[in-house]
Amino acid sequence: MSIQWFPGHMNAARKKAAESMEKVDLVIEVLDARLPQASSNPMIASLRQARQRPCLKILNKSDLADPAATKAWLAHYSAQPQVSAVALSCRKPAEVAKLPALCLKLAPHRGTVLKPLRMMIMGIPNVGKSTLMNALLKKRVAKVGDEPAVTKTQQRLLLGNNMVLIDTPGLMWPKIDHPSDGLMLAASHAIGVNAVIEDEVANFLAEQLLVHYPQLLLKRYGSSPAVIDGPGVIETIARARGYRVKGGDLDLEKAAHTLLQDYRSGALGRISLETPESRAALLASYVVAPSDALPQEVQEAE
Ligand code: G4P
Repeated sequence: MSIQWFPGHMNAARKKAAESMEKVDLVIEVLDARLPQASSNPMIASLRQARQRPCLKILNKSDLADPAATKAWLAHYSAQPQVSAVALSCRKPAEVAKLPALCLKLAPHRGTVLKPLRMMIMGIPNVGKSTLMNALLKKRVAKVGDEPAVTKTQQRLLLGNNMVLIDTPGLMWPKIDHPSDGLMLAASHAIGVNAVIEDEVANFLAEQLLVHYPQLLLKRYGSSPAVIDGPGVIETIARARGYRVKGGDLDLEKAAHTLLQDYRSGALGRISLETPESRAALLASYVVAPSDALPQEVQEAE
């Protein structure tokens, strides 16, 4: 499997975010509620910790995530110093309307005429940053350059109540430290289909679903007792949908695509790909020798 790296972009983004961090009082970090830690770039934590900036973690797309897993993640993050966490759907204005009050709580010394609360929205691509910004501002704002290297005049977007959104590209490319993070990100569309072979991503997803959500698979596609692995799930989908290529063989590619689409759109049900426990188990499974220890920022963030 080949996961694309963007080290050049990452460095440019880091530099820009470090500069912006000086000028803000609070970071709003948008995560995908289905894979909060895999969709969190540890650089964000290290940058804001260096400047002692508090953080509101938004577990966005919670309408698609497993409520039990989301509850566990909220408890996990809320136990961290200078961090508050909230689960919501940025597509629901009433939920977004609760955010300003939560932001003010994290930086109570700001939020006056003389000292407005300055905030920056950060996150990896496709987690919902633009949707959030539009909902907060109650209007459509042109998407901030997703290219971190693009220089733009910095805008200050007034939110009312002496709150200001510093409109910098808060985009950070995913930092993929574990292969399963790459697969989770690809399944959830945070990294493009070109980056990782779709079949492999669909197999990974199918295996996760077999272990954690077999009832959802059964409900949507039906299943046979023979299905014991990812390829078996894909085959079941191809049969159930009658997907065939010319010549009559099963069209497994189309079935893999269907599975991914059904997961991404929520048609399969509410699914989370990781929990605090599964994350802890993943990290524990890495034998960290001093020479290949994780970068310090990863250890800090996790
Ligand atoms: P970004 O700025 O962080 O890159 O993300 P953006 O707001 O563009 O959102 C990415 C996709 O996620 C959009 O779908 C958006 O509608 C969707 N999205 C954002 N918040 C939520 C949410 O709370 N729940 C759900 N279900 N979806 C949400 P899109 O334009 O259709 O793109 P795509 O899904 O085809 O990638």
